[in-house]
Amino acid sequence: MKPFKILEDLYYVGMLDPDRKVFDVIMPLDRGTTYNSYLIQAEKVAIVETVTVTPAAQEEFLSNVRALVNPKDIGYVVLNHLEPDHSGALEILLAQAPQARVVVSRSGEHFVKNLLNRDVQPLRMGDGDSLDLGDKTLRFITAPFVHWPDTMLTYLVEDKVLFPCDFLGCHFCDPRLYDDLVEDFRYYFRYYFDVIMRPYKEYSFKALKKLEGLDIALIAPSHGPILRTNPRQYIERYREWARPSEPSARKKALVLYASAYGNTRRMAEAVARGLGDGSAEVEIFDIGQGWPKEMLDKIEAADGLVIGSPTFVGDALKPIWDLLSSFVTIKVKGKVGAAFGSYGWSGEGVPLVEQRLKDLKLKVPEPGIRVVLTPTEEDLTNCREFGRRLAQDL
Ligand code: FEO
Repeated sequence: MKPFKILEDLYYVGMLDPDRKVFDVIMPLDRGTTYNSYLIQAEKVAIVETVTVTPAAQEEFLSNVRALVNPKDIGYVVLNHLEPDHSGALEILLAQAPQARVVVSRSGEHFVKNLLNRDVQPLRMGDGDSLDLGDKTLRFITAPFVHWPDTMLTYLVEDKVLFPCDFLGCHFCDPRLYDDLVEDFRYYFRYYFDVIMRPYKEYSFKALKKLEGLDIALIAPSHGPILRTNPRQYIERYREWARPSEPSARKKALVLYASAYGNTRRMAEAVARGLGDGSAEVEIFDIGQGWPKEMLDKIEAADGLVIGSPTFVGDALKPIWDLLSSFVTIKVKGKVGAAFGSYGWSGEGVPLVEQRLKDLKLKVPEPGIRVVLTPTEEDLTNCREFGRRLAQDL
């Protein structure tokens, strides 16, 4: 991607990566991504974010920068967030521009030192601090845990441009780059929020509050389209998604199970009846048959998560592990958790699930229930009692 002008003194110097298939190992991509970097051609030249660590990205980025300025004229390199997909070309840029000062948040200092493994002395910005570029001004808005502790947002005062790094970004590569020119990217915008921002959404909500009243003409994130069409609409979407859930009058529980031969299913139904006896609002899902698309919302809203799995080759079933791995994208700490399941030989599935729930910081007040093969009427009564007790624990 060649550099291009966004505004009179603002240029794009980033890189497109349309063929990237997976991000951070865990995030499948089907529209690639972009590493957006911006150059502000003020009296003191500033670059906001670099690009990722690959030699191809570094080379393209440096070439883009050199096409616009002599690296010796760069005054500042602003890194709103130090993850290597944005700081990956810092070392190579500083080799060409040793006079440039690195600008990070106060908590970013630790990361930049460990990134470069040398004692750099960055300029550390606090909330509301400004940096004078001569004819332009950068103002900094700290936004910890959006999605790293170091995150800050940078505002170019004179041009009303917000550089929010990952915040308000998405993995979506379309070389037309402006939100009004690219294909529909709403799905990708939400997907990015769900995977990257949602685990810390209360922090996103706080960051959004800091943007209230800020006059924003353009949002220049570090992944995906540049947002110039009513930029507030994107902030409003985030506000909707990050808004804290309203507490409900009744406690909510989900019974989530997989079942090979119907034994764990019968246990699940009995547990659900018991939860209902205890006045909990209960929903039950056979995870082995897939998830409804709103499952993460339901998990997030639930007070209790009761997980049922048979044991297969000494383990819980894969759909259950897939479910549990999704919990890291949601705040589940403090919810009530419990496990149950039928087994044939040794029954490791239930204790393994219980341990995982504890590791995720759920409260596990009741020891899990295990039944060998077909649950008897007595077993099902015990499952119902188990559900009743859990309802009291919610
Ligand atoms: Fe795009 Fe948190 O890095």
